[in-house]
Amino acid sequence: MAIKMPIKVLAINGSPNPVGNTAHMLRTVLEPCAAAGFATEFYQAGGRPVRGCVACGGCGRHPGRCAVEDWMNELYPKMAAADAIVLGSPTYFADLTPEIKAVIDRTGFISRKDGMRFSHKIGASVCAVRRAGSIHVLDSINHFFLLSDMVVPGSSYWNMSLALVPGEYEQDEEGVETMQRLGENIVWLAERIAGEG
Ligand SMILES: Cc1cc2nc3c(=O)[nH]c(=O)nc-3n(C[C@H](O)[C@H](O)[C@H](O)COP(=O)(O)O)c2cc1C
Repeated sequence: MAIKMPIKVLAINGSPNPVGNTAHMLRTVLEPCAAAGFATEFYQAGGRPVRGCVACGGCGRHPGRCAVEDWMNELYPKMAAADAIVLGSPTYFADLTPEIKAVIDRTGFISRKDGMRFSHKIGASVCAVRRAGSIHVLDSINHFFLLSDMVVPGSSYWNMSLALVPGEYEQDEEGVETMQRLGENIVWLAERIAGEG
């Protein structure tokens, strides 16, 4: 599937805090993308009432829609239209937040019943963590990308930042550098996919 101009990058924040560490990490990733002329969007998922997948099979009968009528039917078309999707979650008991898990389970299934709609999109994960558990969060998000036929870029370190209260991410120099590099790598990869599409 060829990437069309302008390249679109969608960042989804799974933290209930719209101005917390995960949000700022995602915004750092978007900076090089915007500087490259890509269209960028930040979507606040965390803190919104949500249900998990109810396994009703409705997305198989009505491709592109979830039978549970909530914000997932607003988010899915944005994901389907994006060339790169960046999913961010804080670490909650060494795992991702329920909102991001719901995004994965529900849009993952919708996309499969909608012609593997995420194929060849770029997928990147980021995670804020006070101390431990971030690798598990990143693994969970990356599993979603890898079984959705997506392409996952790396960075100069794990895509995480050691931060507890909002504002601490900005003091984590290596975390900020890692997010900047991740954004640069999304640009690098998207431009090459677009050039060859
Ligand atoms: C319910 C809950 C569980 C948490 N569990 C962990 C954990 O297992 N490991 C850890 O290092 N930090 C844990 N934290 C800390 C957050 O991951 C950390 O504060 C993070 O920076 C919050 O990101 P945010 O500002 O984007 O919400 C937890 C915080 C909350 C509220």
